[in-house]
This record gives sequence, C-alpha cells and structure tokens, in this order.
Amino acid sequence: MQIIKNTDELIKIRRNLKQNIGFVPTMGALHLGHLSLIQRSVAENELTIVSIFVNPTQFLEGEDFSKYPQTLEKDLQICKMAQVDIVFLPNTKSIYFKDELKIKAPPNRGFILEGLKRPAHFDGVLQVVLKLLNITTPTRAYFGKKDAQQFYLISKMARELFLDVEIVGCEIVRDDEGLALSSRNIYLSTDERKKALLISKSLKKSSDLVINGELETQLIKSKMKEILTDVEIEYVEIVDREFRLLKNLEIHNSIILIAVRVGKTRLIDNIWI
Ligand code: PAJ
Repeated sequence: MQIIKNTDELIKIRRNLKQNIGFVPTMGALHLGHLSLIQRSVAENELTIVSIFVNPTQFLEGEDFSKYPQTLEKDLQICKMAQVDIVFLPNTKSIYFKDELKIKAPPNRGFILEGLKRPAHFDGVLQVVLKLLNITTPTRAYFGKKDAQQFYLISKMARELFLDVEIVGCEIVRDDEGLALSSRNIYLSTDERKKALLISKSLKKSSDLVINGELETQLIKSKMKEILTDVEIEYVEIVDREFRLLKNLEIHNSIILIAVRVGKTRLIDNIWI
C-alpha cells in the first residue's frame, strides 16, 4: 500500500495507471461504515484509492473542525487490511489555493435540510470532492447513503458538470442496536448513546407506518417526533430521491431523514423507502 501526501505526485502516479480505479473519499476516523465503502470499491475495481482529509471548508464557524477525531495509525491499518492500493493524505495547502474560484451548491436543494442548518457546508463538500475526483480521476467513487443529501448533491454535480465518473451510493451501516455508525459517535456518553437510539427507533416506526399503508407525510413525521422525546430535533423530513419535499410518500422514491442533537453531538440518519 502506497501512502501519498503530495498532490502532484498522486496526479503523476495516476496518469501512469491503466486499471479501473475505485475511489473512497473520507475524513478519517474510519469505522465499519467507511470500511463497507472501501470493501465494495476493492471488490468492484482493479485498484482502490482512499483519501483521508479533514476538509476545513465544509465546517462552519463553531463546528468541530479543530477537534475532529483523528486516528491515522488505525485508519492506515484498516486500509492495509482491506487491500487498499493507495492512501492519499494531503494537507490543506496542497488542496487549496489563495483566492480560488468556488463551486456553489444549487440554490434550492443545496440550502434545505443539512444546507439550511449548515449553510455553505455543501459548497465546501462539493469543492473538495470535485478536486479529489480530478486528482484521482476514478472509474467509480463511493459514498454512503447515510449522508443522503451529500450523496444526492455529488451525483448531481457529476451529472451537471459532465464528470466522467460513476457515483455509487452504499447502504448505511449500523451497530447491533441500530445506531448508524459515525465518526462523531465517540463523543456520546453512555446516557447520550441510549438517547441516540431513539433515532433508529423513530425511523423504524416510520417504515412500520408505511408498511401499514400510511403515506401522509405530516402524520408520519408527527408520529416519529413523538418517539424523539429526549433529543433536540433539528428536522424530521420526507423527500423524494431528488430532494423535493413530499406531501405524500412515494414508495421506492422517498427518503425519510432525521437530524438531532444529543447533548453537544449532532447526529443524522435516514431510511430509503
Ligand atoms: P466522512 O464523514 O468521513 O464519510 C466518508 C464516507 O463514508 C461518506 O460517503 C459517508 O456517507 C460514508 N459513511 C459514513 N458513515 C457511514 C455509515 N454508517 N454507513 C455507510 N456509509 C457511511 O462524508 C465525508 O466524510 C466528507 O464530507 C467527504 C465526502 C469525505 C468530503 O470531505
């Protein structure tokens, strides 16, 4: 496994590679959710590149950029074990330029839900993902459906900017009790973890309602909120796969999304219905 820190060096290496390339961008603190993306890439491509870069431009003032969990040694072991070929570990200077031009998230769907709670977050995500895709020029790039809006906007960017890459969405990985894995789960105390389990419980409730024929989104949302008692709700929303808000849920074309705060930790989760 090669570890490359220098962007120009990776570009040079990439130019000489003839194989299919799978790419998995991450911010490190790898867990089984990340590993599932990596394993899929390794299974589907001749070579896999993983990037580990805590991207400053996607964090807002007051967010956890400076204390974002870093577990580099363990991350490298995970990548090696998973048979990753190249790990890209750039620093900020080798990714960003002074007074550089900027990608803007789409005015509507980039600024609802996560984009409303975290304005400019998706500008930063798209900016860095476009750079990373241009550096690695992969055949396929892998993203988790856990960050559903991020996956949607990256797919939209690839389509609308005619990027020559297949954007692949991967299923959400949860722990035994149903909590979606996240690098931020380590911030949770035992008590907060218990409260966080209400998120998947509430999503389970929504799918039970749909199975029983309920499609009215207002009703589904209010039943979900009844379960989310002990957490601070940021939003509970139901959208179609193009992130348009829905009055009536559409089977096989809907996503039910939750964002909450448990103590100081912000958690998101969703199910695709
Ligand atoms: P990060 O939070 O490290 O996540 C990297 C990838 O892992 C994302 O595509 C995310 O959706 C996926 N992922 C995280 N938890 C998951 C889970 N429990 N199940 C399945 N997939 C999961 O998302 C980012 O980094 C950044 O925004 C990035 C795309 C790297 C740009 O900086």
